[in-house]
Amino acid sequence: MPNIGYLNGRFMPLEHVCISAEDRGYQFGDGVYEVIRTYQGRPFNLEEHLARMERSAREISIPLPLDKTEWESVLLRGVAQSGYANCKVYIQVTRGAAPREHQFSASLPPTILVTFREMPELDALHRTRGVHAITHPDIRWGRCDIKSLNLLPNVLAKQKAVDAGAFEALFVRDDIVTEGATSNLMIVKDGVLSSSERNHQILAGVTLLCVIGLARRHGYDVQERAIRRKELESADEIFLVGTTIEVLPVTQLNGHIVGNGLPGPVTNSLSAIFSQYIKDNP
Ligand SMILES: Cc1ncc(COP(=O)(O)O)c(C=O)c1O
Repeated sequence: MPNIGYLNGRFMPLEHVCISAEDRGYQFGDGVYEVIRTYQGRPFNLEEHLARMERSAREISIPLPLDKTEWESVLLRGVAQSGYANCKVYIQVTRGAAPREHQFSASLPPTILVTFREMPELDALHRTRGVHAITHPDIRWGRCDIKSLNLLPNVLAKQKAVDAGAFEALFVRDDIVTEGATSNLMIVKDGVLSSSERNHQILAGVTLLCVIGLARRHGYDVQERAIRRKELESADEIFLVGTTIEVLPVTQLNGHIVGNGLPGPVTNSLSAIFSQYIKDNP
C-alpha cells in the first residue's frame, strides 16, 4: 500500500512531497498540526480534531484556507488512496514560505501538508502489562493548549524516557503534573478518576475528552483538577490516553510499581468501554 502525501491541493506519493527550505514551519516551527487516526478507513473523532486545529491556527493567526467539509474531503480521499484501514493521518499547517525574518505578513499563503501512513500496531504487551513512565520537568512554553510544531521539550523528554527503558515522560511543573510528552494522563485513587485541569499548560486531548465523557456516562466520578506529584506517586492506577495509544495503563513510575504492578480494574474497564465506543462509532 502506498504512503500518500497531500501538499497545497495535490495528492502524490509521500516521497515526492517537496517543501521550500524557507518554509516557516521548517525554520521557526511556525505552524500547527493534528494527528488523526482511522478505524476501518473512517477518521475517528474527526470533528473534534478539526475544531482543535482551527482553534490552534486561530490562536497563532494562521488563516486556514480549507473549511470543515474540504478538510474532510481531503482526508477521505487520501485515506482511500493509501488503502490503509488503520491510517495515521498527520496534518501540518505552517504560516508558509518567505525569506527568513521573525515577523510575518498576514497575506502569506499557508503550507498545507497531510501525510497518510499505516497506523503502527502498539505492542500488545504494553496493553496487557502496562508501560513504564518517568517524571520530567515541564520546561515548555505557556501555551501548551496550542498544538504547535514546537515540540523540542517533548522530543527531549520522550527520548529521556526511552533511554530509561520507559514509554512516556510525564511533565511536572511547580509540583503539578500536567501531561505526558505525547499523551494526557489520568489517575485513579479510591475509585475516583482525576485528570489534569484543562488550562494553557496542557493540550485538551481529543481522546481525554472522549474518555472523560464515557467514564461519566458509565457512572465514574471524574475530577478535572490540579494533580500534585505526590498524588501521582501514590495513585492506585495511572493511565495514558491519546489518539495513537487509546487507553494505556502505566504500571511503573520512576522505577516504582503503581498499585499492584498490573493494569488496574478502572483502567481495564475504561479501556474496554473505549474499544466498544470505537466499534459503535465507525
Ligand atoms: C502533548 C500531548 N498531549 C496530549 C496528547 C493527546 O491528544 P489526543 O488525544 O488529541 O491525541 C498528545 C497527542 O499527540 C500530545 O502530544
